[in-house]
Amino acid sequence: MSKTYSRIISTGAYLPKKILTNKELEKIVDTSDEWIKQRTGIEARHIAKGEETTSFMASKAAIRALDNAKLSGYDIDAIILATTTADRTFPACAVTVQDNIGMEDKSFAFDVQAVCSGFIYALSIADNFIKAGQIKRALVIGVDSFSKILDWNDRTTCVLFGDGAAAVVVEATNDENSMILSTHLYSEGKYRNILHTDGGVSLNQQTGYVRMNGQEVFKHAVKRMSEAIDEALKANHLTADDISFLVPHQANKRIIDSIAKKLKLPHEKIILTLSKHGNTSAASIPLALHEAVSDGRIKRGDLLVMEAMGAGLTWGSALVRW
Ligand code: ACO
Repeated sequence: MSKTYSRIISTGAYLPKKILTNKELEKIVDTSDEWIKQRTGIEARHIAKGEETTSFMASKAAIRALDNAKLSGYDIDAIILATTTADRTFPACAVTVQDNIGMEDKSFAFDVQAVCSGFIYALSIADNFIKAGQIKRALVIGVDSFSKILDWNDRTTCVLFGDGAAAVVVEATNDENSMILSTHLYSEGKYRNILHTDGGVSLNQQTGYVRMNGQEVFKHAVKRMSEAIDEALKANHLTADDISFLVPHQANKRIIDSIAKKLKLPHEKIILTLSKHGNTSAASIPLALHEAVSDGRIKRGDLLVMEAMGAGLTWGSALVRW
């Protein structure tokens, strides 16, 4: 009997209407377009307003991914939604999406919280549910509204993030030429204080704001994401030369460049949306994936490497034969 794998069959995305440029940020905090571009590669980001809640953005992205696969909510067995900025403390954002897209009540939906690594974690969970035979089709969503937990007086963090959502439909397959080859997850809780919020439900009954030691995060990010890519390639008996595209977490151009340099990957093999989106946390990888699939750069048969690091610290990679 042939083995069951999972494959990504479609993508969809939603970005808030409001675009906040670096020039506009100059009016909010003591910063400059030049500093932000030079240190991060970011030029603008989208900011969610009004009805654009986390579940709203996630539902829009999910419906677009379903449309692109010519499916409806009825065809989905599970939603695995990665976010750190759900609409409410509970219930999970995923169940609002479940209702919005009209899924059957025999399906299930839940949130995953691994901050900027959330999409890789959620994809890994979907892959394992499918390989175990428990479900046939999942919506994996990465969505965040970091603008709601930023201290807009803190120039060291508020210039880095943006809001957005993207979704992929993952389904069971026996086709070894188009599948998720492997996923690799890690965390190291002893570094939880270098990137955290200064509030939370049980701590002080507030949401809190993002606090970060940027240089420490930078150091760990390059090392750990490079290791996670090496691990993924080794596990599949592949080398960096086999990579068609790197679809990285979009946090900082200098982090991505350092990783690409270690892999000796040319510029055209790196999918970059950072300049337009900033760091959209759990949404950043699927937003980049959606863009490159939609514009035809990524084609069936390509080998994709995805990698992310987020607060926790959490990090991971996924190797995908598209
Ligand atoms: N505008 C102008 N000046 C600024 C700003 C700003 N927005 N922010 C900081 N500065 C100043 C600092 O105060 C400092 O001034 P000083 O020298 O007078 O003290 C100077 O710029 C240099 O600050 P550094 O922190 O040393 O700058 P660095 O080159 O490390 O860049 C940055 C900071 C961009 C945050 C970088 O460390 C980084 O990207 N780290 C990774 C963090 C990250 O990506 N986090 C996202 C979540 S985790 C993830 O997604 C991987």
